Amino acid sequence: MDNIVLIGFMGSGKTGVGRELARLLSIPFYDMDEMLEQEAGMPVSEIFRLEGEEGFRKRESSLLTRLVRDKSGNASAAVYSTGGGIVTRKENIPLLKKLGTVVLFKVSPGTVMERVGNDASRPMLAGSGREKRVRELMQLRTPMYLACADIVLAWTDIQKRRTRCGQRLCCRNMAACNRQHGGFHMNKILVINGPNLNFLGIRETKVYGTESYNTLIQKIQKKAGELGLEAECWQSNHEGAIIDKLQEAYYDKSLIGVVINPGAYTHYSYAIHDALKSVFVTKVEVHISDIQSREAFRSISVTAPACDLQIYGHGLDGYLEAMEYIGKTAADAARK
Ligand code: S3P
Repeated sequence: MDNIVLIGFMGSGKTGVGRELARLLSIPFYDMDEMLEQEAGMPVSEIFRLEGEEGFRKRESSLLTRLVRDKSGNASAAVYSTGGGIVTRKENIPLLKKLGTVVLFKVSPGTVMERVGNDASRPMLAGSGREKRVRELMQLRTPMYLACADIVLAWTDIQKRRTRCGQRLCCRNMAACNRQHGGFHMNKILVINGPNLNFLGIRETKVYGTESYNTLIQKIQKKAGELGLEAECWQSNHEGAIIDKLQEAYYDKSLIGVVINPGAYTHYSYAIHDALKSVFVTKVEVHISDIQSREAFRSISVTAPACDLQIYGHGLDGYLEAMEYIGKTAADAARK
């Protein structure tokens, strides 16, 4: 796996998302500004005060040159967060590309103002007219960012991205669009089937059809192959086991979505609802039958509000539609 190099304007989320991405991938995280501060023995604002922007840029380029030089084919990959102005030196652009896959976090001036508008420690925004300054700098730098980005991500504007959930969303989307770069992979869909679904083809065939659980798995695996994704199919008749599986999913670094048919737990398991809430991937609830046209108790789902979508009444195809939705959501988010 190659290094992942995050670029973008100050306040775009490089550090927060970078840390979470490194944690998810179990690789080191380096913040270039922090490295420069350590080398200089003073904060960035002090370097600017004593040496001016020129002095800071010299240090920044020198560090980048050393990082590229020391990049060894055998060393484990890392996530690097760069300073917002690193692209302003032309010679840094090929160096950034050499350092790894460059991901640009595109962000609006309004969002930057919300996040760092009042931060007095930002030397590039010193003085009055901060908003104007942000707009000018962004206009100037945007072509430079674009010149070096392998991947452009605009969804860092999502307000929630400062939360773990938002950061994870960023990481997932980053991985989705990095797939074609052969970099890190987050391409798995977990398909959870709850109670009695192992009895497909045996139980109430008029309602659930004659196809078996094994046939369902085969269809899911075929669909996963078509979508270029991996699917893990898992079934249990036990509420606690389903919760354990969802909690495991929280830690699964490769996961982009969960398809769940909670069976009859759908109608009363607040515990499964709560477990679903803690998994920050796209979640789709699926029911083979039309739960709205059966017994009254089936028309209520306590688990669906914890999911992004509910599909019912489409037979086994509902699972495949859910997988398509998850794949499309990841791809769309990556393109935005
Ligand atoms: C700068 C952004 C800062 C830091 C320095 C210069 C810039 O990094 O490198 O204050 O020119 O935009 P962040 O983008 O990590 O805030």
